Amino acid sequence: MTMTEQRPTTEALSVSEAIQTRRSIRKYVQEPMNQDDLHEILRLASLAPSAWNAQTWRFAVVQNPELKARLQEAAYGQGQVTNAPAVIVVYSDMEDTLNTVEETAHPGMGDEGRTGQRKTFNGAFGGQDTAQRGAWGLSQANIAFGFVMLAARGLGYDTVPMLGFQPDKVKELLGLPEHVQFAGLLPIGKRAEEGFPHHRHAVERITKFY
Ligand SMILES: Cc1cc2nc3c(=O)[nH]c(=O)nc-3n(C[C@H](O)[C@H](O)[C@H](O)COP(=O)(O)O)c2cc1C
Repeated sequence: MTMTEQRPTTEALSVSEAIQTRRSIRKYVQEPMNQDDLHEILRLASLAPSAWNAQTWRFAVVQNPELKARLQEAAYGQGQVTNAPAVIVVYSDMEDTLNTVEETAHPGMGDEGRTGQRKTFNGAFGGQDTAQRGAWGLSQANIAFGFVMLAARGLGYDTVPMLGFQPDKVKELLGLPEHVQFAGLLPIGKRAEEGFPHHRHAVERITKFY
């Protein structure tokens, strides 16, 4: 364990345990989120990979009860938004990514790396409009969205991914710019219901082996 890693306050699950015990939970124990755990979940999620290390994802954490109530309205009244002690909003901000792209060049590559990173992104996205490059940014943020769910479960928390909400209303509530794109809302807390067991395609149904 290095200096930057934090010890979780609960015993961490293995990756396999986290995947197998994750299920969508819509009723939570009514207690505030442990803020250290919350931070650790976001730190773990931020270790997700992305093309050219672009890290297009951004997080907004809503714990304020009034704001959660307004978020619930924007989510067609879905009860899990206010039932959870916190809601992590995962979105991509491709414009911020492009404006600050040198930050994502690995420091080991020095000035050359930073210049190269700028050239790469200008070449790839310079000819695209905001919506086109925003879609690419979202594809990267979706990876982090998955990481948040598993990091949360790994530390003993539960979540439910949500796309059932009005994006423009959520942008307005959180003061986010028009160009951002949402991976989803993620109510998070300790489970107070069991949820549904997994119902999934068999591997053979969804896989071709060559
Ligand atoms: C991108 C995405 C959007 C979803 N949106 C909603 C939603 O708005 N409301 C909801 O109750 N569940 C939502 N779900 C949860 C799914 O219904 C759930 O993940 C799926 O049925 C599988 O169940 P499980 O998560 O318990 O394994 C969403 C899931 C995903 C991945």
